[in-house]
Amino acid sequence: MGHYLMILVLILVPLDRCYNGYKFSDTLGHIKTQTFANVQQRAVQDLISRILPNRSSEFSITINSTFTVDDREAFQIKKLNDKIQITATTGVTAASAFNYYLKYHCHAHISWEVSQLALPQILPAVDIVITLNDRFRYYQNVCTTSYSFVWWNWQQWEKHIDWIAMNSFNFVLAFNGQEAIWQRVYEKLGLSQDDIDEHLSGPAFLSWLRMGNLRGWGGPLSQSWHQRSLHLQHKIVERIRQFGIVTILPAFAGHVPRAFKRLYPDTNMTKMSIWNQFPDKYCCPYFIDPTEELFQTVGKLFIEEQISEFGTDHAYNCDSFNEMDPGNTDLTYLSNVGKGIYKAMTSADPKAIWVLQGWMFYSDAFWNDLNRAQSFLTSVPTGKMIVLDLQSEEFPQFTRLNQYFGQPYIWCMLHNFGGTLAMYGSAGVINTDVIEARAAENSTMIGTGLTMEGINQNYVIYDLMTEQAWRKESVDLSDWFRNYSRRRYGRKDEHAEFAWQVLKDTLYNFNGIERLRGQFVVTKTPSLNIVPWTWYNYTEVFNAWNSLILASDNLKNSPGYLHDLVDLTRQVLQDNGDIYYEKLVKTFRNKDLIEFQKLATIFRGIFLDLESILATNEAFLLGKWLEAAKSCANNTKEEKLFEYNARNQITLWGPWGEIMNYAIKQWSGVVKDFLYPRWDEFVYALNFSLVYNVTFNQPLEQGLIFLLYEEPFTFARDIYPTEVRGDTIQIAKSILARSWYTNTEFVPTTLKTIPVRNRKIPKKYQKGIKRCNSNKGFGGTSLEVRRGSSKIRDLNVMDYYFS
Ligand SMILES: *[C@@H]1O[C@H](CO)[C@@H](O)[C@H](O)[C@H]1NC(C)=O
Ligand SMILES: *[C@@H]1O[C@H](CO)[C@@H](O)[C@H](O)[C@H]1NC(C)=O
Ligand SMILES: *[C@@H]1O[C@H](CO)[C@@H](O)[C@H](O)[C@H]1NC(C)=O
Ligand SMILES: *[C@@H]1O[C@H](CO)[C@@H](O)[C@H](O)[C@H]1NC(C)=O
Ligand SMILES: *[C@@H]1O[C@H](CO)[C@@H](O)[C@H](O)[C@H]1NC(C)=O
Ligand SMILES: *[C@@H]1O[C@H](CO)[C@@H](O)[C@H](O)[C@H]1NC(C)=O
Ligand SMILES: *[C@@H]1O[C@H](CO)[C@@H](O)[C@H](O)[C@H]1NC(C)=O
Ligand SMILES: *[C@@H]1O[C@H](CO)[C@@H](O)[C@H](O)[C@H]1NC(C)=O
Ligand SMILES: *[C@@H]1O[C@H](CO)[C@@H](O)[C@H](O)[C@H]1NC(C)=O
Repeated sequence: MGHYLMILVLILVPLDRCYNGYKFSDTLGHIKTQTFANVQQRAVQDLISRILPNRSSEFSITINSTFTVDDREAFQIKKLNDKIQITATTGVTAASAFNYYLKYHCHAHISWEVSQLALPQILPAVDIVITLNDRFRYYQNVCTTSYSFVWWNWQQWEKHIDWIAMNSFNFVLAFNGQEAIWQRVYEKLGLSQDDIDEHLSGPAFLSWLRMGNLRGWGGPLSQSWHQRSLHLQHKIVERIRQFGIVTILPAFAGHVPRAFKRLYPDTNMTKMSIWNQFPDKYCCPYFIDPTEELFQTVGKLFIEEQISEFGTDHAYNCDSFNEMDPGNTDLTYLSNVGKGIYKAMTSADPKAIWVLQGWMFYSDAFWNDLNRAQSFLTSVPTGKMIVLDLQSEEFPQFTRLNQYFGQPYIWCMLHNFGGTLAMYGSAGVINTDVIEARAAENSTMIGTGLTMEGINQNYVIYDLMTEQAWRKESVDLSDWFRNYSRRRYGRKDEHAEFAWQVLKDTLYNFNGIERLRGQFVVTKTPSLNIVPWTWYNYTEVFNAWNSLILASDNLKNSPGYLHDLVDLTRQVLQDNGDIYYEKLVKTFRNKDLIEFQKLATIFRGIFLDLESILATNEAFLLGKWLEAAKSCANNTKEEKLFEYNARNQITLWGPWGEIMNYAIKQWSGVVKDFLYPRWDEFVYALNFSLVYNVTFNQPLEQGLIFLLYEEPFTFARDIYPTEVRGDTIQIAKSILARSWYTNTEFVPTTLKTIPVRNRKIPKKYQKGIKRCNSNKGFGGTSLEVRRGSSKIRDLNVMDYYFS
């Protein structure tokens, strides 16, 4: 496979030409497809057969690498002889043309979760040419691979690569299989299997292993995992390249297993600092100084090994300082570090281009000093590095950093952290700022991109952002959202359109600088100190929800509609969680026992309603995530480990809740067995304190919640459904019928009581407690909670509490 591609390189490069209309074509001209036109054409035809099995013969595809407009990539769509004829510069532009035609001429819709492909009997006539604005359309965050793709099989990848191509992304990370490459490199450098095993983390945490944030957590990786991911990576890379898309491979960033210190005692390497309080056992690998000879040796070996396995398109991602600062402020040193990193790439591949995530320039105060940033960025020849301006929709850095001191950058929308599910976005910002950034004086912007940490949320905002690849001016957002509703649901519906107009002006009009992390009362660890915050008017969102439900007779057969009805109902319940939490805490503080009982019933009911609506749609099922994880395993021991990885990532995120709730999912199953039990426990304790007039001990309560509910969830092996249960519309309507969700000022006096959960502590949980306090055990009077090796809490347990 690797050799096959190398041959293609030799033959094809001289035949192709650069798109000179784009900036930096002298240094980046070679970062383009190396695939024959007929291969690209075939790939697009196959894609069309997968999307429209019965109508693919109505489309014809021509790939013509000299078909450009003003030296820019372009596509033409023309109806001729009863066929839709697409001519495009590359396969990916042709696939984008196909999607453009479906969206804008057939009112069809293809998203991550659902498709709507009811095309007209006779395909509409068309004759247009669309030019792509920039040389690059980038896709992925280094974390997406862990939050969204980690358990995917080839079928899921194939579908997703089709989506990537249809949305014009021509510059994408190809990150699978790299630990298998590292295994070989480490062996060559003298590490034993034990050295490697204590370093490589489990599948769900590989992104942070790769950035040097942690090591070993959730691991080790088996040979069967390596085989599986190598096999996948071969297929992914092959398919991506068939479309004419350029792959970005990882490069060596400097982080190495602890064993390096033993094996190479004379090399200058420093232990990484602790990341998010991870205990020593799972953090702090060594970092080889990039100015060291050993850095060159390792970096070169790693790239050579990858090239021999996968071939290369000459683009390499490398982030040495993600959420970690270089620890040395000397400007010459910073420049030498940059040079060292780049040299290791070019010594293996002289045509290498360094792709750098610019997250550090925002997240780390170290880089507030412009001279440091300049030394680092200009250490590499201009145009040999591409910076991903990682969260341009909220914290753009290109202006502050003076257009990256001349280095080209890509304008990226990050939007989502941890793959959490709240509905929000900045439609207004992405609609205007991308265009302004491109047109700015001396702009070095060379592309647009998506850098979400997790997919499968807020598709609407990604659909809008993706169109910036070709839009020359801002769109009328009212018009755009109206059309979105029609495309997604397959027909016009005034109630649905009204709902989307309201969402555009509320959830999707965020333009502040608050750091949105998908954290709400329902998804947070219980506490009396949560301060809910929002920028939109809840009542308006409730009105949108009401209106969307009114569309149910008309749209009941639309998968997109059913998905969104679940999502918006979820959002309304999430908002109600914030609203009723504040009321509940107030009555608790006022010791208003009567009012507290009513509000507690409503508050607990929110979780039960949340669970039942989520269970009706397959995009919101814990069962799918867990079964997918288990299906990657080769034996029962590994199955257990992978399930643990899957459960831990979306809850505790670390052995002791180091990044608790960061990647939490509002999924059926998670609500039932994680979010609800912990809040129910908390409410129980508040009630207990009111009823028996005893002091409420919050640290104690949180400690108990950790030991009784949060941690045990990660070790449990319960099986969750992968099939939906319940009727979405019926359940949404019954939730709407509970007047208190939309009229939050009026709490009814009579509420159906929710049976109190059985709070007998199961045996397996008792074990958890004993482990933390072997002297006193369950039922004692004190409890110790540890984080890593340090004791963080001493708690007093009231015996009667469990009686
Ligand atoms: C394709 O055509 C077959 C036979 O006419 C039909 O049964 C099937 O439903 C069609 N599939 C789609 C996706 O339209
Ligand atoms: C490719 O496109 C160029 C520019 O539009 C055109 O001159 C040329 O004839 C096309 N080649 C083929 C084989 O269609
Ligand atoms: C699974 O493990 C068995 C036994 O260890 C091995 O023979 C087999 O090749 C493995 N399967 C994969 C896919 O690696
Ligand atoms: C060793 O590496 C550290 C960090 O990478 C660097 O700050 C320091 O200057 C280096 N020391 C020497 C003697 O090169
Ligand atoms: C653009 O570049 C020119 C030439 O280097 C410089 O004089 C000018 O100040 C720059 N403009 C901005 C806005 O940085
Ligand atoms: C919305 O759809 C109408 C009718 O198809 C079309 O004319 C208009 O350009 C579309 N607007 C946007 C912003 O896509
Ligand atoms: C919120 O929206 C509702 C419905 O449009 C309106 O009556 C109310 O005044 C708004 N509240 C605020 C604080 O703007
Ligand atoms: C509060 O405790 C009382 C007495 O045990 C019980 O009757 C009531 O249902 C509890 N309320 C809640 C909200 O747990
Ligand atoms: C609750 O306890 C406090 C302190 O122990 C005491 O001062 C107060 O009178 C008690 N209230 C009731 C209603 O028993």
